[in-house]
Amino acid sequence: MYPHSELCNNDALMADANLMEKIISLAKRRGFVFPGSEIYGGLAGTFDYGPLGVVLKENVERLWLQMFRDDRDDMYGVDATILMNPKVWEASGHVSGFSDPLVECEKCKKRFRPDHLDDPKKCPECEGTLGEVRQFNMMFKTQVGATADESSVVYLRPETAGGIFTNFKNVVDSLHPKLPFGIAQIGKAFRNEIAPRDFIFRLRELSQMEVEYFVKPTDWEQAFEEWRKMMHLFAEAVGLPQGMVHELEVSDGDRAHYSKRTIDFEFDYPFGRKELWGLAYRTDFDLSAHAGASSTELTYLDEETKEKFVPHVIEPSLGVDRTILAILASAYREDDMGGEVRTYLALAPKIAPVKAMVSPLLKNKPELVAKAREVRAELRKIHPGIAWDDNGNIGKRYRRQDEIGTPFCITIDFDTLGEHSELADTVTLRHRDTGEQERLTIPEVAERISSAIQ
Ligand code: GAP
Repeated sequence: MYPHSELCNNDALMADANLMEKIISLAKRRGFVFPGSEIYGGLAGTFDYGPLGVVLKENVERLWLQMFRDDRDDMYGVDATILMNPKVWEASGHVSGFSDPLVECEKCKKRFRPDHLDDPKKCPECEGTLGEVRQFNMMFKTQVGATADESSVVYLRPETAGGIFTNFKNVVDSLHPKLPFGIAQIGKAFRNEIAPRDFIFRLRELSQMEVEYFVKPTDWEQAFEEWRKMMHLFAEAVGLPQGMVHELEVSDGDRAHYSKRTIDFEFDYPFGRKELWGLAYRTDFDLSAHAGASSTELTYLDEETKEKFVPHVIEPSLGVDRTILAILASAYREDDMGGEVRTYLALAPKIAPVKAMVSPLLKNKPELVAKAREVRAELRKIHPGIAWDDNGNIGKRYRRQDEIGTPFCITIDFDTLGEHSELADTVTLRHRDTGEQERLTIPEVAERISSAIQ
């Protein structure tokens, strides 16, 4: 395991009031995250992942799939649609209850969440009077087909869970899993947040990684504990420092309508301690509600006891975007290297978009370039994320890779070609966090990279 605990000693940075600005600027400059529809002035609550962000996101999702689905014998996947029959959201309680409090300024007409304001009576923009608090449903509505009446209204799903519950019977009938078992899904969800904010923290279009884990009603506590541990293991695997992830037992009045117990996993973001992920005990609320509303039996038959019952559900729900923001915020570093301030991302090698960069010391020496190309081709057999850079001097190349979190840089020089015979076929391996360099054979470098990214 990568030594993250040593890397989390960035308290001074976390106290830096400009840290979010620095992260947002790096994310844009280096192609991780761009504002959505930027050339038209953007669209609040939407962000696009750029070339490096896409790979970072894929690496996070792949790791989640591996840990939450593929490495287990009791997990199945689905990929359900975003548009679903609106009865799904009536039965789940989202049509009547998925709302946030809202106040509108009588003067400038801007809308706010009163629980986010210092003074819930005064407009923070124009100091006008704020009206009465009312509930605002956060589901996006659209219409299917050519008719435009109430009968054609559908919603963009507010959580991926809906498509898991509606496929419970299909998975049981097609694969006959034994209880306990779970269904995992990654996908987009949409919420018309009143006040999207904090970069990719509160979005209107987001991605979720969700599991609905079905258990006997008496077994829920044990399953809850197992998934709780799994969530901590995942936090460690993506490189979140242990000391920055905190559990919050959500009190009765604050839980979602479907939950009898919820633990929020909170993270120390630069703007404060906020919800990162959630773990909920959803009882048999959803399966029973969908069974009733669809007149479909959603039960499980225990072959041994011949008992038929509605399973209960444990739900680990992880937002992809909040995970990425936590990763970027905790990995961001500044240090003094050779008398200049260096910025780097101390990303866990497993999730870093680029695993290593290969570079010829000089780009105008064909024999160096040819050898470097050969080394890169060899290393790409381990992983495709082996980059090439021959632009500018070697120090600049290292800085560029540091800033995007590349754990290793490999330089091919005249010694590699055998200028000093004892060093023939060796290269320089530079480590991102310390800047230390060592001389290794190419198979040794391959071994270092493989073991770091496993
Ligand atoms: N299925 C359960 C569910 O959706 P939730 O607490 O509303 O529960 C789960 O959302 C996770 O989705 C959150 O812990 C967070 O990671 C992410 N999430 C929720 N709303 C979000 C938003 N507006 N922007 C980004 N991520 C969000």
